[in-house]
Amino acid sequence: LDPGDEVIVLAPYFVEFLAYIDNHGGRPRVVRTGPDFMPDIDAVEAAVSARTKAIVLNSPNNPSGVVYPEHLIADLSAMLSRKEKELDRELYIISDEPYRRIVFDGLKPVSVFNHYRNSIVISSHSKDLALPGERIGYAALNPAAEEHDEIMAGIIYSNRILGFVNAPALMQHAVRAVQHITVSVPDYERKRNMLYGALTEMGYEVVRPQGAFYMFPKSPVEDDVEFVHELLSLLVLVVPGQGFGSPGHFRISYCVDDRTLDNSLEGFRKAAVRYGLTR
Ligand SMILES: Cc1ncc(COP(=O)(O)O)c(C=O)c1O
Repeated sequence: LDPGDEVIVLAPYFVEFLAYIDNHGGRPRVVRTGPDFMPDIDAVEAAVSARTKAIVLNSPNNPSGVVYPEHLIADLSAMLSRKEKELDRELYIISDEPYRRIVFDGLKPVSVFNHYRNSIVISSHSKDLALPGERIGYAALNPAAEEHDEIMAGIIYSNRILGFVNAPALMQHAVRAVQHITVSVPDYERKRNMLYGALTEMGYEVVRPQGAFYMFPKSPVEDDVEFVHELLSLLVLVVPGQGFGSPGHFRISYCVDDRTLDNSLEGFRKAAVRYGLTR
């Protein structure tokens, strides 16, 4: 990024995206998604300016768990290609996909490379191999990208200068040998079904997630921090939506034991009664 370059980020977003952009002198341009947390292509188009360098996509999404369908990626790509011509400037899609393999309901991961030339995929094995903290993953650059050689050199160089997060060689060999393995997706899908069913029955408004291991229900009161404190007093730990750029919601991470999930239901139920969602 050159100072003042803009990067479009869709809210709700993984909070670190803003820091990554800021660290490089860029400016995040936050665009809200629709009530179903899907990108609104017209709203994204309205945010593209002569300073736009990239858009960050994250599907399956943290915090909403939604998965963008292929036709949406295709439409978004078509719009960006049109804008590239109009502005005579490359616009990159940076697709952050650590939850790529954690999808439910028979969905298949979509490859942004098939739809858009100037694209970069970032991944991590923190989730699909349950190795958080190991700081191991990869960046993949579309071989057809316009500035391919320059960007590839940039990726290699940042890996050198960020040596303190360089994955140790031994682990690089280890994860290469287990690329065919993923954490148990049916287990996450079962947890999603249980929790989504229980919460909606209690009266919570929830967009049904189809991937990752998060849910992002609407807070029964406008002040999501107040509601998170209320749940905390009932021994349920969730995160306020304001941290993800979407106040009025809260995020649940359900990658926990079944027993922990089962035990949380009483707290969710008591809060639902207190806030008039249910009797
Ligand atoms: C969307 C998204 N991107 C990136 C990361 C960071 O992954 P890592 O553990 O590899 O730093 C996370 C972790 O929560 C995430 O949810």
